[in-house]
Amino acid sequence: MEKQLNELKQQAIGELALAASADKLNDLRVKYLGKKGSLTAVLRGLGSLTAEERPRIGQVVNEIRNELEQLIESKNSQLKQAELSARLASEKIDITLPGRKNRLGHKHPLTTTLDRIKATFMNLGFEIADGPEVEQDYYNFEALNLPKDHPARDMQDSFYITEEFLLRTHTSPVQVRTMQKSEPNQPIRIIAPGKVYRRDYDATHSPMFQQVEGLVIDRGISFSDLKGTLELFIHEMFGNNVGVRFRPSFFPFTEPSAEVDISCVICSGSGCRVCKGTGWLEILGSGMVHPRVLEMSNFDPQQVSGFAFGMGVERIAMLIYGIDDLRLFYDNDLRFLRQF
Ligand code: PHE
Repeated sequence: MEKQLNELKQQAIGELALAASADKLNDLRVKYLGKKGSLTAVLRGLGSLTAEERPRIGQVVNEIRNELEQLIESKNSQLKQAELSARLASEKIDITLPGRKNRLGHKHPLTTTLDRIKATFMNLGFEIADGPEVEQDYYNFEALNLPKDHPARDMQDSFYITEEFLLRTHTSPVQVRTMQKSEPNQPIRIIAPGKVYRRDYDATHSPMFQQVEGLVIDRGISFSDLKGTLELFIHEMFGNNVGVRFRPSFFPFTEPSAEVDISCVICSGSGCRVCKGTGWLEILGSGMVHPRVLEMSNFDPQQVSGFAFGMGVERIAMLIYGIDDLRLFYDNDLRFLRQF
C-alpha cells in the first residue's frame, strides 16, 4: 500500500514539473487532489484496512497531500512570475507619450447660420412656427394664390408624391397654416425655418435646401415695416456697411413683391465674378401679403395687412463664409467642415 502511494506521489511530482501553464496545473490538482482524484480514492479505501494500518496509511496520505499542495502552490507562483517577466520583456509602453485626445466636434456652418437668423428675429419678438415637409398641394400652392395650371408653378419644379401631396417647394405653406390656426385678424409675427425640396442640382442648387419664412400680420402694417425689418436683419447678419436694395419682383402670394439684394460681399459693389459684375447679390424674396391670400385664410384685408419674406439659408451661409459651391455643405467632408 505504501509503495503504491509513493509511486503515485512520484508520478504526480513528475507531471507537476512538466506543467507549463496555470490551466495544466489546475488539471493536475483535480486529477490527484480533487473529489474524484486518485489520492482521494485511496482515502476512501481506508475502510477496508485493518484498524492498526488505518491511521498510519491515513497519515501518509495526508503527508503526500500536503506536499503536493505546496508543490502546486509554488509551481503556480513560478508560472505567474514567468508570465509576468515574459510580458515585461515583450510589451513596450512609453509612459512619456502624450495621451490620445478626443477631437471635439462643433456646429455645422449651416446650423450656426440658422441659429444667428433665428436669434435676430427672436430678438425682434418673432416666434418660431413649423409645418410638414410632405405637404398638401393646397397649402403649398392653392392657398398661396397659385391655382392649378397657374404658370408661376413652373418657377418651382416639384417632387410630387401623389396628385395631392408633394415635398414642399418652399416654407410659404407655413404662412397659410399659421393663419388658419390663429384667430382671424389677430396679430401674427412668426418665422418658419425648415427644409424644402426642388428638382434642381448644381453649384448653387441642391434638391433639398433650407429656407426661413417670415410672416407679420397686424393692423396698419406697411411696406416700410417690411423694409425696416429686413434692413435690420441684413445689417445684423452682414454688418452695418453692407448696402441693401429692394428690387420689384413677382410672387403670386405677395403684392407688391420685392427681391432684396445686398452689395456684393466679395467686391463691395465694384463688380466681380461672384456678383456677375453687377455689384449686387440677391438674398431673399418678399412682399406685402396678397389680399386674396389673407381672404382665403379668413383674414380681412380691409382690417389687417401684412408682409412676408423667404430666404435660403445655404445662400446666406455661402455669402457669410465665402463658399462658392453649395453642395459642399452636404458632402460631409471633414476637411471642409473643420474650417468653420
Ligand atoms: N416662397 C418664395 C420662394 O421660395 C419666397 C417668398 C416668400 C417670397 C415670402 C415672398 C414672400 O421663392
